Amino acid sequence: MSYRIFNFNPGPAALPLVVLEQVKQEMLDFQGSGMSILEISHRSKSFEDVLDDAMARTRRLLGLDETYKVLFLQGGASLQFLMAPMNLSLPGKPVDYTNTGSWATRAIKEAKGLGKDVRVVASSEDKEFTYIPEVPVDQDAAYLHLTSNNTIRGTQWHKFPATGNVPIVCDMSSDILSRRFDPHRFGLIYAGAQKNLGPSGVTMVIIREDMLERVPKDLPTMLRYTTYADNKSLYNTPPCFAVYVCDLVLKWIEETVGGLDAIEKINDQKARLLYEYLDSQSFYRGTARADSRSRMNVTFRLPDPELEKKFISKASAAGLGGLKGHRSVGGCRASIYNAVTLEAVKALVDFMKDFAAKEGGI
Ligand SMILES: Cc1ncc(COP(=O)(O)O)c(C=O)c1O
Repeated sequence: MSYRIFNFNPGPAALPLVVLEQVKQEMLDFQGSGMSILEISHRSKSFEDVLDDAMARTRRLLGLDETYKVLFLQGGASLQFLMAPMNLSLPGKPVDYTNTGSWATRAIKEAKGLGKDVRVVASSEDKEFTYIPEVPVDQDAAYLHLTSNNTIRGTQWHKFPATGNVPIVCDMSSDILSRRFDPHRFGLIYAGAQKNLGPSGVTMVIIREDMLERVPKDLPTMLRYTTYADNKSLYNTPPCFAVYVCDLVLKWIEETVGGLDAIEKINDQKARLLYEYLDSQSFYRGTARADSRSRMNVTFRLPDPELEKKFISKASAAGLGGLKGHRSVGGCRASIYNAVTLEAVKALVDFMKDFAAKEGGI
């Protein structure tokens, strides 16, 4: 497998090799059907089994009780920026948002565009979104919106705020299934699959049943959470192939890695390795405040943009891909999602040491 690079792409991102191999192996004949998964009916028993399995595995991995529904939608996390306020706001109540980066800013924009009473109750914009702010929780809010991991700025909520009766609505696109957390404070969790969960084209939505009671009946059919919940995500044709790959990734987390605690432990090790190296020298500089650092996206700068360009290009030539920071902020970013191995992170740290030595760093 020497042709496979160490992939630090931010999303779509690395997938477990065993998953890709199974996809390849089953591509022409899915489980003895004589057809590929791309060619079978979404109403067939074979596909329903895939869907059921993906839902059951998500439930087990996250420890969700029967009050939660696991749904598979299309439209990316970006459609959820709109659907969440459309479905879950309550008449006469404000919706509270935290602004911790570009994706949170987009979520706020969509809610405001709908004319909702949006309050930005906490923000880290004053310091270029390099930290996670304190949040004052007001029991009057219909919900509190968080972005659990800020993919672009490399920050992450390490602890979720205690919100009392206010449900948390959370964009977990870039850290879902990467660590253990108590799901019961969450009324809605959504995540585009293409970072930790599978390919692009499918969005996982986890919704608590009481939230479904809020859904206005006059919303267009495809924009109502109830449409997906009442029809087991089969109201219309779902993105079958993407759901199938997600199911394989979920199976990999559960059976090969050993569950959420096991994957969290590896993710911790990977992040620690990188951050400890960053803290041990002065050539590279981590951009997120130490107490807010993401275990999924490690953002850093070099002494100047020219060196950053050279670093990214030399790294790519050495088989370490996807290290360019987001175009809106520049710099470098190593996305070390679930499927990125410890071996890949070790290779990156070794490369960083070498590069620094050659370019006059310590
Ligand atoms: C935290 C977060 N939210 C939302 C998005 C947008 O997701 P999508 O492209 O699935 O709409 C991204 C994409 O990178 C993201 O990282």
